[in-house]
Amino acid sequence: MNFYEVLEKRVSTRNFTDQKISEEDVKVLLDAAYKAPIAHGLYDECRITVIRDKSLIEEISKEYKETFNKDHDSLYGAPLFIIFSSSKDSDAKYADAGCVLENISLAATSLNLGSCYIRGLIENLGKDAKYIDKLNLDDGFYPVNGIIIGHSKVELKGKEHKINTNFI
Ligand SMILES: Cc1cc2nc3c(=O)[nH]c(=O)nc-3n(C[C@H](O)[C@H](O)[C@H](O)COP(=O)(O)O)c2cc1C
Repeated sequence: MNFYEVLEKRVSTRNFTDQKISEEDVKVLLDAAYKAPIAHGLYDECRITVIRDKSLIEEISKEYKETFNKDHDSLYGAPLFIIFSSSKDSDAKYADAGCVLENISLAATSLNLGSCYIRGLIENLGKDAKYIDKLNLDDGFYPVNGIIIGHSKVELKGKEHKINTNFI
């Protein structure tokens, strides 16, 4: 799939089959993540956690559901959840996360995998969330944003979005 076909197909997917993501595909996703730009080149201040353990993904979703009385699974039954963490105090960590996670999303699309950026759950559960202990992060690192990935139940098809643009 060429770059422009990937852009046309990228869409947030919230409906996955039970099929797991292969080791080979995870490698492609991580390779794309590592190619992302990071503010000041501070790659050492970033961490990526790949969660393939479905029971942990379900546990994280349950913690969010119970803490905020949500009635749905905010991780949508995905078989793979990748969390970007940072030790940065500055807003740069959100930009870093966006770059890394979008690279993963585009790589996933190129493999015909569905993906969806996850901010709300991580942001709202915050730094004291119970699940963070299970991520085995180094001291001082906290989750920023994440992405869920899986085989989509429907064919990937991007939407037509517009952003108001002015020219000077
Ligand atoms: C920074 C950011 C945070 C997002 N957080 C969530 C989220 O927590 N849960 C979710 O289901 N979708 C989330 N999304 C997906 C957006 O809702 C989605 O990208 C947007 O509605 C456009 O739709 P599309 O991705 O299908 O083109 C997020 C997207 C971005 C860029």
